[in-house]
Amino acid sequence: MSHDTEVSGPDLSQGIPRDSLADGAMVQGHVGDEAVLLARRGDEVFAVGATCTHYGGPLADGLLVGDSVRCPWHHACFSLRTGAAECAPALNPLPCWRVEARDGKWLVGERLASPSATIQPATTPQSIVIIGGGAAGNAAAETLRQQGYAGRLTMLSADEALPCDRPNLSKNYLAGTAPEEWIPLRSADFYREQNIDLQLQSPVAAIDTQRRRVALADGSHLPYDALLIATGSEPVRLKVPGAELPHVHYLRSFADCRRLIAGLADARQAVVVGAGFIGLEVAAALRQRGIDVHVVAPDAIPMARILGPELGNFLRQLHEQNGVVFHLGDSVTTIDESGVTLASGARLAADCVVVGIGVKPALALAEQAGLAIDRGIAVDRYLQTSAPGVFAAGDVARWPAAFSGEAIRVEHWVVAERQGQTAARNMLGAQQPFVAVPFFWTEQHCVALSYVGHAENWERIEIDGEIAARDCRLTYWRGDRKLAVVTIGRDGESLRAEVEFEKAAGIV
Ligand SMILES: Cc1cc2nc3c(=O)[nH]c(=O)nc-3n(C[C@H](O)[C@H](O)[C@H](O)COP(=O)(O)OP(=O)(O)OC[C@H]3O[C@@H](n4cnc5c(N)ncnc54)[C@H](O)[C@@H]3O)c2cc1C
Ligand code: FES
Repeated sequence: MSHDTEVSGPDLSQGIPRDSLADGAMVQGHVGDEAVLLARRGDEVFAVGATCTHYGGPLADGLLVGDSVRCPWHHACFSLRTGAAECAPALNPLPCWRVEARDGKWLVGERLASPSATIQPATTPQSIVIIGGGAAGNAAAETLRQQGYAGRLTMLSADEALPCDRPNLSKNYLAGTAPEEWIPLRSADFYREQNIDLQLQSPVAAIDTQRRRVALADGSHLPYDALLIATGSEPVRLKVPGAELPHVHYLRSFADCRRLIAGLADARQAVVVGAGFIGLEVAAALRQRGIDVHVVAPDAIPMARILGPELGNFLRQLHEQNGVVFHLGDSVTTIDESGVTLASGARLAADCVVVGIGVKPALALAEQAGLAIDRGIAVDRYLQTSAPGVFAAGDVARWPAAFSGEAIRVEHWVVAERQGQTAARNMLGAQQPFVAVPFFWTEQHCVALSYVGHAENWERIEIDGEIAARDCRLTYWRGDRKLAVVTIGRDGESLRAEVEFEKAAGIV
């Protein structure tokens, strides 16, 4: 991950020969000390910032799609015309420059002012309430204001912290390589300036869809005209003796992560329970802190159910090369102050235990409100629930996925943010279907894996390249249907796979 801007390539203020930039091509250069991307679409040439506003991905290695550019790292999408961050995970726009054709060259001139919103301020619905201060909730609130919504906007979050960059909690921040200030998505001032009434530590206890109001746990009520439920997921709790001891941790919120890091201060050996994405990312982060890590999981091969045995074995070897010790086909039966006992009878010393045995969608409110539930909150393609004016987004929502035709629910950061953005537009009456192809990434021991699509029940995996060389593409098939594509070291292929899914579904 990088938050630095690197300046390289030609000085674009001096121009580059016109015929050196083919249609559909991009080149990274600079204007002064700012990295600039020059991109050509037909007869039009655009100049925008070359560095993704999410984690600083190099957009020149990305993909042009229509008049937008997609980031190679986590697939954010920016308009080449306006610099607007059209698709999460980027939330901030790119700067834009004027481009001139002169003396046989493309010359980049002055930096352009950010275009102001052309949308008429909307005051209906009069009051919008968002339940959840996570990926989907935050993206929805920001989008509402970007769209010109001027009515009352309240975000109720059970968290004690501002909406935060949750994926970082099990990666750089936990490893100690990301500073605290990277974690909040926005400052408290941002919400004040945007007139978003963000109420932290304000759990909602009930929704009354008839009277259109929510009841908070403190007994107060808040009316809404439109409501977004974005309550995310809750970690599955380990039910063994000792699981409530203070050195046993779960990792969902910023507060959880801070408590875990505090608990690691004098830790020499940790036991991670679970070999899913969270467990494995935590194992990698703790190894970066120099802590001995033992991973205990019932699986024969980590992640095999999701990614298949080949990638699962690769991940296992990757972790073992980095000092992680696996206890597979085993489970924790008891935890005490000094360690854990396994079903096999083995005893592992542990100053710290981190449990990552999965999550379940936080559906209690939706169930109590009588919304249609189908292993998640059932929503239509506009992310509307069975109750009028009530939308759901993120980990809780099961939606009819345009790219596969199946109703799915996923637990992906980018999907949650994009659903928040779409739900926001639809609360304002846009009637925009949610069509994004699911994408997620994981990073373990400096190996990044990108996953596009959704393969719950695949039958075979086609492997191109070499997994061990960290240069591969795995395609998951059911019959003759391509379900998902996983890449390591091939970010461009991941972007192209996303576009192929979109084309096949008639989305682009
Ligand atoms: C440590 C970690 C690492 C991750 N890494 C990745 C990754 O690398 N890539 C990836 O794609 N995904 C990753 N994920 C998953 C991703 O973070 C989630 O899919 C995403 O956060 C879901 O967004 P959401 O808005 O649905 O829920 P959340 O972001 O979980 O937000 C839910 C919000 O609802 C609030 N809430 C819940 N109940 C109530 C209530 N009754 N009243 C008020 N507020 C309530 C919570 O306090 C919280 O603020 C990771 C998750 C974790 C925990
Ligand atoms: S760095 Fe560009 S999307 Fe993450």
